[in-house]
Amino acid sequence: MNVDPSNALMRDAEAASAEGIPPKMVARSVNVHYGATHALKDVSLDIQGYEVTALIGPSGCGKSTVLRCFNRMNEMFENTQTSGQVTIDGMDIYARDIDVVALRARVGMVFQRPNPFPKSIFDNIAYGPRIHGLAETKEDLEQIVEASLQRAGLWDEVKDRLKQSGTALSDGQQQRLCIARAIAVQPEVILMDEPCSALDPIATGKIEELIEELRTGFTIVIVTHSMQQAARVSQRTAFISRGELGEYGPTVEMFTKPRHERTKDYIMGRYG
Ligand SMILES: Nc1ncnc2c1ncn2[C@@H]1O[C@H](COP(=O)(O)OP(=O)(O)OP(=O)(O)O)[C@@H](O)[C@H]1O
Ligand SMILES: [Mg+2]
Repeated sequence: MNVDPSNALMRDAEAASAEGIPPKMVARSVNVHYGATHALKDVSLDIQGYEVTALIGPSGCGKSTVLRCFNRMNEMFENTQTSGQVTIDGMDIYARDIDVVALRARVGMVFQRPNPFPKSIFDNIAYGPRIHGLAETKEDLEQIVEASLQRAGLWDEVKDRLKQSGTALSDGQQQRLCIARAIAVQPEVILMDEPCSALDPIATGKIEELIEELRTGFTIVIVTHSMQQAARVSQRTAFISRGELGEYGPTVEMFTKPRHERTKDYIMGRYG
């Protein structure tokens, strides 16, 4: 994708026009402890719908932990405690009666390393719709698989080999397969934890283009170590520092006039 500043400014104007629209997801005073480690300290963050929000910050600062708060994935680790509130469309996702499986269908996730199931390309995509009962007939399922692969920009490359193993694809294709798998259950929000860090520049470019395209239908939160990537793909950026929200605002502002010294230092590569 090109880094066109006028484009970025236009996107920012769009982001500004989202002011006043209630955020899709809201985190309020969230604290996360892993045993004795106090990983997140009082983090409050609004995620605007149909935008890409980037989370940046030094290694170990808590980016993945913030991301996992939005679909309760931190609970998969033992000894984790989360307090505070996280909502989607105003609904408390940590409420006692929440069905976590259904929540994770609404708030999907793509990981750092492409992790297709050791199954066929078709079955990788069909898995979620099958368990969530999204297809009544075989034709429905085939249609969902095709539409998801189309949306992830992979259909033309795999349409003649849907029965082959997903693990036989290139790394970049595997990551697009994982994105197609996330899309197949019609999520509203997609969380991506450094989705390009295992990919070469060409495969990275394809994923970045895809992210830009996906935000027309989904809300995206992406963790990235690459400042350039945050600048290219996101409308808002949150800088996390030592478990706290250091700064949060429109991406263009964050990269041109950061408000805090610590953000400036990080952006200028002076630490992290
Ligand atoms: N499953 C876990 N069990 C125990 N401690 C954890 C766990 N996951 C993260 N932590 C700790 O919580 C803190 C935040 O980690 P987190 O993985 O969120 O950081 P990060 O910003 O994503 O780092 P990186 O850029 O290296 O991926 C770190 O001190 C880390 O050691
Ligand atoms: Mg991480």
